[in-house]
Amino acid sequence: LKGYKLPPGGKVVRKLDKLYEGKAKIVYTTDQPGLLIQYFKDSATAFNGKKKGTIEGKGAANVRISAYLFEILEKAGIKTHYHRLLTEREMLIDRLEMIPLEAIVRNIAAGSLSERLGYEEGRRLKKPIVEFYYKRDDLGDPLLACQHVLELGLVDGVQFQQLRTLSLQVNDVLQPLFAERGLELVDFKLEFGFRDSEIILGDEISPDTCRLWDKKTGERLDKDRFRRDLRRVEEAYQEVLKRLASS
Ligand SMILES: Nc1ncnc2c1ncn2[C@@H]1O[C@H](COP(=O)(O)OP(=O)(O)OP(=O)(O)O)[C@@H](O)[C@H]1O
Ligand SMILES: [Mg+2]
Repeated sequence: LKGYKLPPGGKVVRKLDKLYEGKAKIVYTTDQPGLLIQYFKDSATAFNGKKKGTIEGKGAANVRISAYLFEILEKAGIKTHYHRLLTEREMLIDRLEMIPLEAIVRNIAAGSLSERLGYEEGRRLKKPIVEFYYKRDDLGDPLLACQHVLELGLVDGVQFQQLRTLSLQVNDVLQPLFAERGLELVDFKLEFGFRDSEIILGDEISPDTCRLWDKKTGERLDKDRFRRDLRRVEEAYQEVLKRLASS
């Protein structure tokens, strides 16, 4: 996790207006068109915002975890919005026209998939499943079938297949990477957007958006600790960062 200093001769980017404040991040415009700054907060929410809290140090851990994973994905040929880290909590990204979908990739049953299929948590799936949820807080972020996505006109059929393929490619990179560090990548959420007319991976990849289980102990090292009021929530985020950094 070294080498995030400003490149020599690299332009200084100035933060301008708040574009959007979400539950975990704030997005700012900059003086460079097409570039945004993502600021990672310590606030945490769960159950569609019904549970709220603060996880000390989460933002600083998540920005570094996300940056590290985006760099690995870029090296693997997957296009992301990531440019570089700017500060302890900020990263420079491409402005995308976000697609209001959450792509969830699942390797092991947990959460709503366990409920939907009647699978016990921890049951390995025959092969990874990709699900799409509609990002609509007012509708409770419902699960969509492919035809729903096409009916909504969020993407066309070719782009839908691209979203599936990209999501599985991300899994093919991240699952072995976490495995080498003793972590089971149970499932994770991705958000994509358009840069010109190309689909690009955006948002973040962190213990807020992944389920990560210790391979030896089964201990949960992700936001489920917060959801379930388990102790040592802060430590879980630091542990994931530590395992990625020590490589
Ligand atoms: N490259 C990008 N360009 C523009 N917007 C982005 C980009 N990457 C992520 N975003 C958006 O910025 C916001 C990040 O804030 P945050 O994740 O805290 O939102 P949130 O509380 O989860 O709410 P939301 O339901 O909108 O995601 C999200 O709406 C996300 O879709
Ligand atoms: Mg979000």
